[in-house]
Amino acid sequence: MLSKGESKPPENNGNNDGNINNILQIKNLSKAYHTNGGRSNNSDSQAKYIVLHNINIDIKEGEFVTIVGPSGCGKSTFLNIIAGIDKEYSSDAEIIFNTGRFDSASSNNNDDRDSTHYNQDKILIFQEPALFPWLTVIENVEFGLKVAKLPKDKRKAIAKHYIEMVQLSNFANAYIHQLSGGMKQRIAIARALAIDPKILLMDEPFTALDVNTRQSLQRQLLQIHRATHKTILFVTHNIHEAVTLGDRVILFSRKLAGIKKQFTINLPHPRDPNHPIVDAMTKEIINEFREFELEGLETVEEYNDNGDLVAAAPINI
Ligand SMILES: Nc1ncnc2c1ncn2[C@@H]1O[C@H](COP(=O)(O)OP(=O)(O)OP(=O)(O)O)[C@@H](O)[C@H]1O
Ligand SMILES: [Mg+2]
Repeated sequence: MLSKGESKPPENNGNNDGNINNILQIKNLSKAYHTNGGRSNNSDSQAKYIVLHNINIDIKEGEFVTIVGPSGCGKSTFLNIIAGIDKEYSSDAEIIFNTGRFDSASSNNNDDRDSTHYNQDKILIFQEPALFPWLTVIENVEFGLKVAKLPKDKRKAIAKHYIEMVQLSNFANAYIHQLSGGMKQRIAIARALAIDPKILLMDEPFTALDVNTRQSLQRQLLQIHRATHKTILFVTHNIHEAVTLGDRVILFSRKLAGIKKQFTINLPHPRDPNHPIVDAMTKEIINEFREFELEGLETVEEYNDNGDLVAAAPINI
């Protein structure tokens, strides 16, 4: 994405090299937003703001990966691209799902459709659960299955199963306004699980909750992970949460427009949030974070004829 002759940072390497169990492979992913940088109203002088630069990550099947990094470093942008919501990224990038599933979008052959076709490779859960207030809990969880035209008895059974998994069976017939924030998020998780995605993408799902509810949902999410073996990509601002939950923590950096460092958390689940290893890893990541943000990296910049900044990316990595 940089102009000819400019120095290019090394690739952000997040690979489990040679591992055939990778459910998701991301290669050479770059993303730029076009803005006028507040410097000019001339549309010809749009600046290219590079948010993600040459990112390479492999995610193993069943892995719980947490992503942390300063505000504005591109975590949500990254998740939106993986979710397929944002399709505007570098043309040479590859995002490969090794889910072994038939992809309806790539074929017109309706004969390949079967009763499990409500499956999706991935689904994104947001900080504010977007539930339908005019539907009951069970109707919300059933919604995706209804759209996929699953028979009523089958979709009811699936919805009940996941409502039970998030321990809200007593609220199956309640309306959304009758639920607390934590309960709403559990229903959003149940609704996501109902369509049986291989990968759950979660963008700060617990940030709006109080500390106790948050810890309770962390425990439940880990139980769900153990029960379903879903692959999870979980973005959080909270480094302690990232270490408590993740098999691997990926630290994103705004200055690098990509991955600063990755940390493997070698501690079996369920983890005590006060375990000395959790504590030590949290401190290590926070130090890495701070040290780096203070570093003040040099950047490569590109200006147009009007003197407007049109592209910027870090060097000296
Ligand atoms: N639609 C857009 N147009 C222009 N710039 C954008 C757009 N969306 C995001 N950005 C910019 O891209 C950068 C990354 O945004 P993103 O939302 O991915 O960050 P984030 O790491 O999720 O931040 P936070 O932790 O605050 O949620 C930010 O500088 C943001 O201002
Ligand atoms: Mg975000």
